[in-house]
Amino acid sequence: MIHIPKAEYARRRKALMAQMEPNSIAILPAAAVAIRNRDVEHVYRQDSDFQYLTGFPEPEAVVVLIPGREYGEYVLFCRERNPERELWDGLRAGQEGAVRDYGADDAFPINDIDDILPGLIEGRDRVYSAMGSHAEFDRHLMEWINSIRSKAHLGAQPPNEFVALDHLLHDMRLYKSAAEVKVMRYAAQVSARAHVRAMQACRAGLHEYSLEAELEYEFRKGGARMPAYGSIVASGRNACILHYQENAAALKNGDLVLIDAGCEIDCYASDITRTFPVSGRFSVEQKAIYELVLKAQQAAFEAIGPGRHWNEAHEATVQVITAGLVELGLLKGDVAQLIEDGAHRAFYMHRAGHWLGMDVHDVGDYKVGGEWRVLEPGMALTVEPGIYIAADNQNVAKKWRGIGVRIEDDVVVTRQGCEILTGDVPRSVAEIEALMAAARAEVA
Ligand code: GLY
Ligand code: MN
Ligand code: MN
Repeated sequence: MIHIPKAEYARRRKALMAQMEPNSIAILPAAAVAIRNRDVEHVYRQDSDFQYLTGFPEPEAVVVLIPGREYGEYVLFCRERNPERELWDGLRAGQEGAVRDYGADDAFPINDIDDILPGLIEGRDRVYSAMGSHAEFDRHLMEWINSIRSKAHLGAQPPNEFVALDHLLHDMRLYKSAAEVKVMRYAAQVSARAHVRAMQACRAGLHEYSLEAELEYEFRKGGARMPAYGSIVASGRNACILHYQENAAALKNGDLVLIDAGCEIDCYASDITRTFPVSGRFSVEQKAIYELVLKAQQAAFEAIGPGRHWNEAHEATVQVITAGLVELGLLKGDVAQLIEDGAHRAFYMHRAGHWLGMDVHDVGDYKVGGEWRVLEPGMALTVEPGIYIAADNQNVAKKWRGIGVRIEDDVVVTRQGCEILTGDVPRSVAEIEALMAAARAEVA
């Protein structure tokens, strides 16, 4: 199974500590367990920042980084071994495992954190933490600080500066290493197989959830523990609901089905959208809209590379889509003026993409100093133009209504331009129709 190697976590901690101000400490909690109902928990997903620095998969843990500390810079608080609890809930690393398997220099029971952590903070000038993201943890942190302040008369030195860790960490996360790209490439391949399988399985009379089942089958078979986000399987006019979640309608010949789904591998997301006809053949209008979105996507790929800024890809899609909608008669007027007026937003109301990584909408600033960020090798993003013509849009001829198309792929910026990670799913009308026809011929 492809995963981030242990050495990479050590490299990340080192890189973060190298950027921290002298005499400082960074403190970050693991994700809390989320209760689904009564005794049932949601499947546990580690906090992305915590995972990025530790690879430690358990809840009830806190990572502490203390550059220059004599007895070890990387301290992990985690649950103690407990044979009875482990019998019910699964194995725990314990403090020994934290050191042996996760590279901690020092590990303590999480239950002892109130006694130990203030001592680690004391004497440090600056505390880096994810301020504002974990309300309860922020409260604990203030309690630990206050316990040091209360001993100031005995000579204890509380820190005076509190700094958002996100700023450093999220910039690191924006640049994907070779190991990260490898994991993301694999996640993209598994997701590509899932989309191909859904296209092959698609038949009128099945339901949107039938195709969701095909996706999940491939995700799990590929080793993914879960999708990177709730899968969208939206047929007919449902495709015009951008975050459609019901996935319950019956599939009808004559409709398109839009699938936006991707799996997560070792906490790295993939994010693919394909739109294809339930019958296996696009209608004239569906094909016209589809090919326009595809052309916009191609223009976006060409606008991605080192030295290009973040918004160039989006601008390219707006240009192509606006001009195309005028050509099809869906918009009327001068293309440049329509772009200036944002007329495309009636049909294309989202942006061409987002950063992609451990979070599907990944961290990282899109602007720096008020200017669009310039792309650099290792940055990963999605390219996902779409056109959505609402079923009740009275401004367009009836034949166009209810068509929703999005095409989404994942790319990583390379030295020459970009690498498409999700190229294994057919994209052109001819390729999709051929794949679906072949699947039907096999069954017949
Ligand atoms: N699946 C969420 C997105 O495409 O941004
Ligand atoms: Mn996306
Ligand atoms: Mn998506």
